[in-house]
Amino acid sequence: MTPQPSHPQAGAAVKAADRAHVFHSWSAQELIDPLAIAGAEGSYFWDYDGKRYLDFTSGLVFANVGYQHPKVVAAIQEQAATLTTFAPAFAVEARSEAARLIARKTPGDLDKIFFTNGGAEAVENATRMARLHTGRPKVLSAYRSYHGATATAINLTGDPRRWPGDTASAGVVHFWAPYLYRSPFHAETEAQECERALTHLADTIAFEGPATIAAIILETIPGTAGIMIPPPGYLEGVRALCDEYGIVFVLDEVMAGFGRTGEWFAADHFGVVPDLMTFAKGVNSGYVPLGGVAISEAVAETFARRPYPGGLTYSGHPLACAAAVATINVMEEEGIVEQAARIGESVLGPALRELAARHPSVGEVRGTGVFWALELVRNKETREPLVPYNASGEANAPMAAFGAAARKHGLWPFINMNRTHVVPPCTITEAEAKEGLAALDEALSVADEHTV
Ligand SMILES: Cc1ncc(COP(=O)(O)O)c(C=O)c1O
Repeated sequence: MTPQPSHPQAGAAVKAADRAHVFHSWSAQELIDPLAIAGAEGSYFWDYDGKRYLDFTSGLVFANVGYQHPKVVAAIQEQAATLTTFAPAFAVEARSEAARLIARKTPGDLDKIFFTNGGAEAVENATRMARLHTGRPKVLSAYRSYHGATATAINLTGDPRRWPGDTASAGVVHFWAPYLYRSPFHAETEAQECERALTHLADTIAFEGPATIAAIILETIPGTAGIMIPPPGYLEGVRALCDEYGIVFVLDEVMAGFGRTGEWFAADHFGVVPDLMTFAKGVNSGYVPLGGVAISEAVAETFARRPYPGGLTYSGHPLACAAAVATINVMEEEGIVEQAARIGESVLGPALRELAARHPSVGEVRGTGVFWALELVRNKETREPLVPYNASGEANAPMAAFGAAARKHGLWPFINMNRTHVVPPCTITEAEAKEGLAALDEALSVADEHTV
């Protein structure tokens, strides 16, 4: 399917119904202007005026195999024709096979899969499992993080989306994780950052009381918060602290999992095995809502003879699971994880570094696979962000201008605060990547106008 000739009237009807009746996430409803989408294929989507955009966001970083992959679409159609839905208490082929394939890919002994409808529910359930497994109340998470929008998940989240729902009563304690570019520890090298971040975490554990802490949850590579690759030794150090104090180590791979970083899971880069791992998004490229928790033998044992007090009507929905089976098989058959690694190493990484060298607004480039962040700054020396933390309205104008310029050049950019993330589908070709990078180059020139 390529872009259809323009159908502005159809687009206007879609938009009108949306504006009249759809209540959108995270938005002041009267201040938004959602684009009406006519279709999508591979790395592109298009509107009803026939304008096509290269998607450097993969939706919300979920379409890892691109849009409308024919094999995944066919698998959903076949499952719909065979057994569209069935209750979670039964053994169903698509669910069994999805769990088997996921367990085969997850590291270590994470061999049991609890299915949810998305990432936040996965985080909620991982937290509940950890609390029941340890009999302890608190969970530690990083300030620079996003873990979802349900009650516990939003409290675990560090970014400002937490604030409106945070009554400081969720049993959550935040700490600083490594971020060398804006080091909370005044570190100048990765080794210093690692050592000081681990000391800070050990101190936090000591002062909170180790016997009160059920879990530490970390995004293996934080996503929305800025794609900060942890320094060598950090995750191993967190694992050791968890082992020392009997704390459950939860890695949140909702965004980083299923190929995005150039490995099946970001944890594979570090050789670290958590006790629980949350996933969603890339597990089936978001074709049907699905998430879950991969559970270690020790945690699973807690619930071997004692009921697990949690469940969802659509846990392991057959359509979602069939999409996961097809996605994982397609990723294997077509070498999509390897493709993500290759495009990151040979195209995106070098080109983004070259853009950083030329544009005064790019303070730092970091990433791996198809998971990259460009930190935009007013000044490379001072590293002052291009817009203040959590800016809105006029204060956010430079980032808004950057975004508008990218879209004008046919690129749909991912923007969070003073950063743009380059997070296209894992299937993006070299030619498509270069097309997007050329548009990014143009948009960065607009950001450059706001540097001092
Ligand atoms: C790391 C991480 N965890 C959890 C979530 C929440 O997932 P969902 O929006 O599917 O509830 C997200 C969503 O972006 C995420 O990036």
